[in-house]
Amino acid sequence: MLGIIGAMAEEVEQLKAEMESPQIVSVAGMDFYKGRIGGKDVVVVRSGVGKVNGAVCVQILVDRFGVEGIVNTGIAGSLKAEINIGDLVLATDAVQHDVDATQFSYPLGQIPQMNVFAFKADERLRQLAAGCCRQVNPDIGVYEGRVLTGDQFVSSKEKKEWLAKVFAGACTEMEGGAIAQAAWLNQVPFLIVRAISDKADDSAQMDYEEFERLAILHSVNLTRALIEAF
Ligand code: ADE
Repeated sequence: MLGIIGAMAEEVEQLKAEMESPQIVSVAGMDFYKGRIGGKDVVVVRSGVGKVNGAVCVQILVDRFGVEGIVNTGIAGSLKAEINIGDLVLATDAVQHDVDATQFSYPLGQIPQMNVFAFKADERLRQLAAGCCRQVNPDIGVYEGRVLTGDQFVSSKEKKEWLAKVFAGACTEMEGGAIAQAAWLNQVPFLIVRAISDKADDSAQMDYEEFERLAILHSVNLTRALIEAF
């Protein structure tokens, strides 16, 4: 059974609405909707925004629901010129860009005393998602790359360029890296799927408000297909 985590209400609202007779379990202020979509068992939940919410949500999915895989859907700011608003990014791996223990000679993004720098997404889930995308979102660009995560909405050209240079990221958002770490700790395969809502630069806030809806539509289309294919 897959667990689907969206950070915002709009992302998971549609999936919940498509569930046959969902059972709702509330834990840590999060409503977990367990039911069937397209004949497949699934748990859909809104984690809330940010790294702590994402990580707590994963632990509950693992402990209470015994999920076999986790998909984090959502939106992100693009860090690459060729990745446009409305396109999708499927994570190869995830790094938390706001981790800084450089004082102790760790590279930026490295969590001290962990033997992993970037948390690798599951290849099978990514390939499944890429196949689903070609079917349900044939007109948009689909990219594979590193997802960067921090408890920050990135909306300046300088910060964007710094992130792209230091971490070689494809997009930036606020939960994926924490969800990846929590899934890795539990040895549960995961995938992060991000639809691009803005370019993470000085126009990010304006673009975000205008394109959030389109971006969510693309990620929901994919998630639905992925649940059915899993
Ligand atoms: N989610 C969507 N756009 C974002 C941005 N520019 N920074 C962080 N999270 C985001």
